Amino acid sequence: MEDHCSLTIAIDGPAGSGKSTVARALADSLGIFYLDTGSLYRTWTWLVLHLGISPTSEDQVLDALQAHSIDLQISRDRELIIGIDGRRMGPELRSPEVTTCVPQLAVHSRVREIITDWQRQLAVGRKMVVDGRDIGTVVFPEADVKIFLTADVHERAERRLQEMNRHGHMSSFSEVKKALVERDLVDSTRSISPLRVADGAIVIDTTNRDVKTVVDTILIEIKMLRKRTARDCLDF
Ligand code: DC
Repeated sequence: MEDHCSLTIAIDGPAGSGKSTVARALADSLGIFYLDTGSLYRTWTWLVLHLGISPTSEDQVLDALQAHSIDLQISRDRELIIGIDGRRMGPELRSPEVTTCVPQLAVHSRVREIITDWQRQLAVGRKMVVDGRDIGTVVFPEADVKIFLTADVHERAERRLQEMNRHGHMSSFSEVKKALVERDLVDSTRSISPLRVADGAIVIDTTNRDVKTVVDTILIEIKMLRKRTARDCLDF
């Protein structure tokens, strides 16, 4: 076995493409850590909104982090625990207000640099599945496995609505679909780290495919990679 087995499986894709569900299921099946990078952008957005600051002002957004502390810990059962000034964050990160404002915060280059740094620190010496928008392109361009998930916009909106309902946030299908299309546009056209397929990524369309089928496809990729390389870290 390699001494320090670090391994990164990057999963990118637009909202509702199934990233978080697939990434979590994959991490569980491999027994490794799952990092939901959207939650980092959501945490900072929650803080900014809580302070009454506009997420469009990069200077004020950065000042908020000077005056308050965001603490990231990984629990024994491989869960990311996020605290702001000692307060543990939970479903409030998925509120419609945060969801609407997070792309405004995510366009700032300094903010992205800081969050990229957090992600790289969390990865040191770890095996993990990481999901986001720029994981295979910017944060971990050397990731061992790169996946890009897509799905039909109608199905993505349906999944997003169900997820919001599960978290107790009610909305209509048409509102969710409209917000999703707008968010896709901001995420994929911003000048810094836009959402795009990373070099070497395997593109999987998850429309009409269940989670198990998608996870099994990725597990086959990992097995093939193990055969092609001598990396013990890929033994599961
Ligand atoms: O995956 P999510 O819906 O929780 O992401 C929330 C927002 O955060 C999304 O609109 C774009 C931003 N984001 C990003 O810019 N880069 C990432 N790696 C993850 C999320």
